[in-house]
Amino acid sequence: MAHIMGFGGYAPERIVTNDEWAQRVDTSDEWITQRTGIKRRRFAADDESTLTLAAAAARGAIGDAGLTPADIDEIVIATDTPEVRTPDTAALLQHELGCRNVPTYDLGGSGCAGFIQAMDVANSRIAVQPKNILVIGVEVITRMISLTDRATAVLFGDAAGAVIMGSQPSKAEVLGIVSGTDGSHAEILTLTAGGTRRPFNASSLASGDHNRLVMDGKKVFTEAVRRMSEASAEVLRRVGRTVGEVSLVIPHQANLRIIEAVRKKMGLESGRVFVNVHEYGNTGSATVPFAMWQAVLTNRIEKGDLVVLTAFGAGFHWAAAALQF
Ligand code: UT7
Repeated sequence: MAHIMGFGGYAPERIVTNDEWAQRVDTSDEWITQRTGIKRRRFAADDESTLTLAAAAARGAIGDAGLTPADIDEIVIATDTPEVRTPDTAALLQHELGCRNVPTYDLGGSGCAGFIQAMDVANSRIAVQPKNILVIGVEVITRMISLTDRATAVLFGDAAGAVIMGSQPSKAEVLGIVSGTDGSHAEILTLTAGGTRRPFNASSLASGDHNRLVMDGKKVFTEAVRRMSEASAEVLRRVGRTVGEVSLVIPHQANLRIIEAVRKKMGLESGRVFVNVHEYGNTGSATVPFAMWQAVLTNRIEKGDLVVLTAFGAGFHWAAAALQF
């Protein structure tokens, strides 16, 4: 199994509070706090983009691993908010970081589960051939969805998280990863305009569909709780460990109520779940690697800890990973 050699993360400086949102759309700090637990989130500055966020997190992870860009053998980026339509953000990042001409690719459209899915891909690539893979989850969601639709706009923020995965024993061993997909729910959380079914045109622009994130919040909520708790139990079963041995669960940060429900279903005390959704909101595929970077940085994770990552997102996709620090 692969090992994690370094961690990195980045969030833009600009903080947008619930009160600021209440001045923009018909909402309130009380509603957002009660329904989601979110108090503030970060917005990318005008001179920032998916590439600059990814590069900042990547440089942190490469440095933390004691490597240089020349040591990176492959790059995979999970994002639903790419720098440009073509080519992928990973190609742009290869050049930006000054890496060798190594293979790079994006895992696009995998929603908030993308980062753990990307770890899963990297894990199997390393099993075939030992190499250092830069794995990133990054989103600049605030620039891709409607900022006038209160039902979705207040939930999201921008961030990036990164790890370096390799074959040599290092900071954390990947014990196992499980992931799954149920495409029958694709219409419940989707942004359709801009694809071949509905290309960008004057009508999608006029109707506002070009950036309308369609979301059945209640159905997403229910499935997220079920899939993240089941995936966590499944990965622990596969690696022969129990919930009682878990030091910390780092779940996708979409909603404090979802996190709490997952925690209760797993039978964990509150101190054993990492939460930063109140500070950053839902940063899509970046939530898990960004939170893991913060947990390592603040010594919430120590040597010897068994850590479970779990995420759920559009698709529906879900995944969980067990890591031995
Ligand atoms: O990472 C995956 C991405 N998405 C998610 O994880 C979302 C999962 N779902 C959720 O987090 C919750 O379902 C929400 C936070 C989105 C909504 O919470 P809820 O308790 O399910 O509320 P609701 O959808 O039942 O909406 C209740 C009311 C509605 O008004 P009516 O129909 O009861 O009059 C909404 O129009 O709240 C209204 N509402 C708002 N009110 C103030 C919706 N958004 C807002 C808002 N401010 N921002």
